[in-house]
Amino acid sequence: MKYVVTAGPTREHIDPVRFLSNPSTGKMGFAVARAAAELGRDVVLVAGPVALRTPKGVRRIDVTSAREMLAVVERELDGDDVFIATAAVADWRPAECAAKKLKKREMDGTLKLVRNPDILKSVRCRHKIGFAAETNDVMVEAARKCREKGLDMIVANDVTERGAGFGADTNRVAFLRKDGSVERLPMMSKLAVARRIVRFAEGLA
Ligand code: C5P
Repeated sequence: MKYVVTAGPTREHIDPVRFLSNPSTGKMGFAVARAAAELGRDVVLVAGPVALRTPKGVRRIDVTSAREMLAVVERELDGDDVFIATAAVADWRPAECAAKKLKKREMDGTLKLVRNPDILKSVRCRHKIGFAAETNDVMVEAARKCREKGLDMIVANDVTERGAGFGADTNRVAFLRKDGSVERLPMMSKLAVARRIVRFAEGLA
């Protein structure tokens, strides 16, 4: 059994110099990878574009887009692995990516988008843990995602709260397990949250 962890944002290119993305820094996912490696587990970290050092003992594979992330996860994940999806995957991508930088005169102010694959929902493996970064109705949304994506647990966090979510070194989250139980954790470092997540994953039969 190994851990496959996704982290950071994805970039969905419009042309070689423009893209759609989000402010994820990858800190939460890198902390999860580090926490699993600390226990001596094999860890594959599939990272979008981030400026972080690879944790010791972790095999890192860098990707750019959601489709690249999906392809690497599918290649790396075996049926009895644990998949922990912390990446802030872009839900949409431009329908086309221009081979050369678009000139202003070639753009008419509209951008056609198509849906990206849902990596966490589509992969099949023994155990899956996801994140729900929400701005409202946090627990309702988290419960729905846990059910729809077939997860063992979802880690819910309100990204509007200070010291939680994108870029912070701390996080305040709630664990919502598939049996319906909820555990609200106090504000703590992302590494401490990561160790709690890995402890839960280790306890899964
Ligand atoms: O974006 P959403 O709130 O649905 O994300 C919930 C979980 O699903 C997160 O763990 C995220 O990493 C994962 N996800 C994914 N692929 C997507 C969208 C989300 O793996 N395209």
